[in-house]
Amino acid sequence: MDIDISYMNIEDLEEIKDVLISDFDDFWSYNILKGELEALNSKYFVARYLGEIVGFAGIKIIDLEAEVMNIVTRKDKRNLGIGSLLLEKLILVSKDLGLNEIYLEVNSKNCVAISLYEKFKFEKIGIRKKYYNGNDAMIMRKKFIY
Ligand SMILES: CC(C)(COP(=O)(O)OP(=O)(O)OC[C@H]1O[C@@H](n2cnc3c(N)ncnc32)[C@H](O)[C@@H]1OP(=O)(O)O)[C@@H](O)C(=O)NCCC(=O)NCCS
Repeated sequence: MDIDISYMNIEDLEEIKDVLISDFDDFWSYNILKGELEALNSKYFVARYLGEIVGFAGIKIIDLEAEVMNIVTRKDKRNLGIGSLLLEKLILVSKDLGLNEIYLEVNSKNCVAISLYEKFKFEKIGIRKKYYNGNDAMIMRKKFIY
């Protein structure tokens, strides 16, 4: 699969606006994502296959840390390596910026996402009890060694 990863802009978001909830995920609304794209300390990327947006992901940078804000692959294109390419990009960009680490919070029931993060050597460093509608949030981190 020939996947192209590039910076995400507001035109990209407009392109998926109407299918955001049905085809991607239901917890990142258009308005929240628009705010994210406008934030100076955020960096978002979009994955395209045959010209179509098939995934996106972003980080927020605070001091020398990057937090993964979201990573999502279009429902009909999951388990094909797109999430891995997006996460790899977030890691590379964070390293290029000389950051100390990248971390995230993930629902402890989200086994697919957790195995994606473990594949990229993120480690579990903490739990936030009952964070997501009664489910625990797991905090995972990858420290960079230069
Ligand atoms: C998590 C998500 C982004 C993964 O995207 P993806 O494009 O399917 O990821 P990949 O195809 O690169 O797979 C990456 C790894 O995830 C794991 N994985 C993917 N699909 C899986 C499945 N159906 N069952 C178990 N593990 C799976 C595997 O470890 C896989 O690595 P491998 O193929 O080398 O073994 C995608 O499932 C998604 O969009 N989920 C909804 C949004 C979400 O939960 N995001 C995370 C929020 S913290």
